[in-house]
Amino acid sequence: MSPTARLRGRKGETVPLAPGIALAFDDVGKTFSDGTDALRGVSLTVADGEFVTVVGPSGSGKSTLLRIASGLTEPSSGTVAVGPKAPGYVFQDPTLLPWRTVEGNVGLFAQLDRVPKKRRRELVAAAISLTELEGFERHRPTALSGGMRMRVSLARALTVRPSLFLFDEPFGAVDEITRQRLGEEVQRLHARERFAGVFVTHSVVEAVWLASRVVVLSARPGRVLAQVDVPFAYPRPADLRFDAAFGDVARTVSAALQESFT
Ligand SMILES: Nc1ncnc2c1ncn2[C@@H]1O[C@H](COP(=O)(O)OP(=O)(O)OP(=O)(O)O)[C@@H](O)[C@H]1O
Ligand SMILES: [Mg+2]
Repeated sequence: MSPTARLRGRKGETVPLAPGIALAFDDVGKTFSDGTDALRGVSLTVADGEFVTVVGPSGSGKSTLLRIASGLTEPSSGTVAVGPKAPGYVFQDPTLLPWRTVEGNVGLFAQLDRVPKKRRRELVAAAISLTELEGFERHRPTALSGGMRMRVSLARALTVRPSLFLFDEPFGAVDEITRQRLGEEVQRLHARERFAGVFVTHSVVEAVWLASRVVVLSARPGRVLAQVDVPFAYPRPADLRFDAAFGDVARTVSAALQESFT
């Protein structure tokens, strides 16, 4: 019996990735120490450069899934395959340091990673340019709008040059139009940087507009209820949201989501 087979189902294991794959969950379960069953039997593969969104009821284990993917949380069972490099991680809250400027915040991860100063400056400048924050380098977070703070958080994660990018409902707290613009920004970044993305959202429209595949989780413990392919080519125009074909895909995701609540 291989070591993998011995460990599976008892304690979660991390294994190397197959070529062309950015993240692979095989039969992953998570039970917290207080007995809460958060995830059960989740199998999910994200290919290099693929952008997947995840929807599901509150408490269905979406954040837990991302935390496991990032290595912050150990799975209780099953196998997780991830690359050796730290993923980019964007949380719902921008979590910026208020005493640091935009530049200082964007450079934080690289600084913690002890990236040499010259290289750090290059990474920060590139990330600021990609997120269109030029001119705001010396501003502090309190002098920025909510959408701009989120862009600083995106820029900070970009300095890691991740091949896998995890987004946990990053745009939940901003207005509809800003949310759309930030979505366009993420799509643009994805087109340029070609990272694999896993993006958690409560919005079906956002989920369909961003992804090439939408994963629908069941109510707790989260299981994969459905995976809906989204056939539209990138880059996607903002008004694709109003197309009949888009509506059909959104309806399919919505129906699966309705089921997840029952
Ligand atoms: N450290 C923990 N200890 C015990 N239970 C936990 C822990 N973290 C999460 N949970 C529980 O696991 C379940 C899944 O939580 P998780 O945060 O992953 O859900 P979610 O799908 O992200 O929800 P939301 O949409 O509200 O953000 C919840 O019932 C939560 O209370
Ligand atoms: Mg969550």
